Amino acid sequence: MSVAKSWRFSTNLALLHYSQKHACQRNPISWSFLCGIMLFCLGLISLFTGHIASDLEWYSHRFIRPPKMGSGHREPINIWKSKYSRFYYGCSDRGPDFTSATPESLSNGYLLIATSGGLNQQRTGITDGVVAARILNATLVVPELDHNSFWKDDSDFLNIFDVNWFIRSLAKDVTIVKRVPDKVMRSMDKPPYTMRVPRKSTPEYYLDQVLPILLRRKVVQLTKFDFRLASDLDEELQKLRCRVNYHALRFTKPIRELGQQLVMKMRKMANHYVAVHLRFEPDMLAFSGCYYGGGDKERYELGEIRKRWATLPDMSPEGERKRGKCPLTPHEVGLMLRALGFKNDTFLYVASGEIYGGEETLQPLRELFPNFYTKEMLAGEELKPFLPFSSRLAALDYIVCDESDAFITNNNGNMAKILAGRRIYMLNLGSIPSWALVSFGAGSKELKATLKFKPQFHWIDVLNAKLRYMGHKRTIRPNAKRLSSLFMARKQMDWNTFEKKVKSCQRGFMGEPDEMRTGRGDFHEFPYSCICQKPLDYLKGESRSDQNNSSQQFPADSVVHLGSKYGRESQLQSLHGLNTSVNTVPVSSTEDHEDEDLFPD
Ligand SMILES: *[C@@H]1O[C@H](CO)[C@@H](O)[C@H](O)[C@H]1NC(C)=O
Ligand SMILES: *[C@@H]1O[C@H](CO)[C@@H](O)[C@H](O)[C@H]1NC(C)=O
Ligand SMILES: *[C@@H]1O[C@H](CO)[C@@H](O)[C@H](O)[C@H]1NC(C)=O
Ligand SMILES: *[C@@H]1O[C@H](CO)[C@@H](O)[C@H](O)[C@H]1NC(C)=O
Ligand SMILES: *[C@@H]1O[C@H](CO)[C@@H](O)[C@H](O)[C@H]1NC(C)=O
Repeated sequence: MSVAKSWRFSTNLALLHYSQKHACQRNPISWSFLCGIMLFCLGLISLFTGHIASDLEWYSHRFIRPPKMGSGHREPINIWKSKYSRFYYGCSDRGPDFTSATPESLSNGYLLIATSGGLNQQRTGITDGVVAARILNATLVVPELDHNSFWKDDSDFLNIFDVNWFIRSLAKDVTIVKRVPDKVMRSMDKPPYTMRVPRKSTPEYYLDQVLPILLRRKVVQLTKFDFRLASDLDEELQKLRCRVNYHALRFTKPIRELGQQLVMKMRKMANHYVAVHLRFEPDMLAFSGCYYGGGDKERYELGEIRKRWATLPDMSPEGERKRGKCPLTPHEVGLMLRALGFKNDTFLYVASGEIYGGEETLQPLRELFPNFYTKEMLAGEELKPFLPFSSRLAALDYIVCDESDAFITNNNGNMAKILAGRRIYMLNLGSIPSWALVSFGAGSKELKATLKFKPQFHWIDVLNAKLRYMGHKRTIRPNAKRLSSLFMARKQMDWNTFEKKVKSCQRGFMGEPDEMRTGRGDFHEFPYSCICQKPLDYLKGESRSDQNNSSQQFPADSVVHLGSKYGRESQLQSLHGLNTSVNTVPVSSTEDHEDEDLFPD
């Protein structure tokens, strides 16, 4: 590829330098001037090509793997931890030029947001709603959750999310109120104007189409609000998205506490655990149009459910499978995990709703991984108050999956996408190394004890603020397009061959920070603007002290923002300032997400 060529070209130039130098030494007096000129020219040329090379790098892969990778792709992967994660951290601080929130009295009006879909789809709606309010200089009214979705949950925002925390955390960015003041309501002669903006609308659309109405009517409601804002926004708005999604949206205390209890129960049994998110509900399977091996019974049952959607096109199950559109079966997920190297004594947390076929469908996965747990098995009585509320149950699964050491999904639904992005951004409590705990003045034992016996969330927040430089744990997503043919041909190969092929299919799908590229997929899934690379001198210090020493917190202004559209020039320079021996092996491509999930999840 052209980058490689440029590199080689630079190397050739360097060799040329070298031979020229030696040529010079033969006849120092008469040649020196000419040599000087030539070296100067060559220097200019190599400088120039260097810049071209870096520009090409910039466009072809934004994330450069800092460490030397040796033979690159053939390197074994650590299934529990990304070794590159320590070179990156989540960064979503406000830029100095980001103006403060428009106060309620000066705002252009009140923006009501009615989200849509399941919990995670609603999360994207809430996040984008905050950004839309920011674009419009509107006062945001705490978003309304969807009570009529497929998931049928009556919970309001304040039953799921800590509403005061939400308002407070975003106070500098957007003014948020719990309701439209009565005075405003009384002064309106018509009910609030209701509109639905098209999917992925640009900020310009909001300014052209929504703002005039907002100014005229003072209160506007945007309905079915999910993915209604373009994925690609300017850098500061992307960072705002991260502040909403990863910091301002936290679950209510009862949800967090029970979630942490489940996590602790898993951790008591095993040092590491894998969370598997299975979407295998009958509706979902029917919607997919795939065949899952259940014979005529399945064809009939799923066919009946399919009639619910009048507009679904006729699909060929084979074709869908080849296109990677079919969720993996629990058995296939198990085979994939074993092939990737998870042993049969691995502890599995399985997050799922209703499984089509029930126990029978799960049995092969249980056989591959006998240490198999669900929230129902771990929680017992404490789960009772949550049972009538699908979103609160989904929130519990979200927490346990988020905190897991490795997270695997069988689908590419909203929860999978949101958690994949979050896990790249966030630290997980379990990954806090002992030196970090020591640095808080408490002995690591004491602090661990605090966390174990009393889930005190202010501690967690303190840790969060301080430790978000800590990297992430694995999120493994099946490369369904390539795995599907492999699963079909599995009977024709021995286990070792299968294992090798699965590993090779999964390269680029293992949740490495550098799998992210702009323009690829949805921002909630690939929050590239909020993933920064640590400066090399910080990393040097880190390895010198063997990650034992936390006194090396690097100053915020010395970081390289790899995701920025702006100031590209200076970033390139800082990249150059890093060691030029950074390896630029292109990473294998991630899957394309050309079409939107229609199924509400
Ligand atoms: C929002 O406020 C900022 C600063 O106060 C201003 O520059 C911008 O033009 C305003 N935008 C709209 C849509 O009112
Ligand atoms: C795992 O497999 C080994 C044989 O490969 C078997 O001896 C062992 O009992 C299994 N462990 C569990 C927990 O099933
Ligand atoms: C790191 O700290 C542990 C104790 O917390 C100590 O045993 C170990 O030797 C330290 N390692 C280095 C490289 O300083
Ligand atoms: C941590 O590193 C600093 C200098 O980088 C050193 O002064 C300090 O003694 C180290 N602390 C520990 C506990 O190793
Ligand atoms: C870059 O790293 C290589 C080895 O990893 C080293 O030989 C070289 O001197 C370094 N260059 C700079 C500019 O730090």
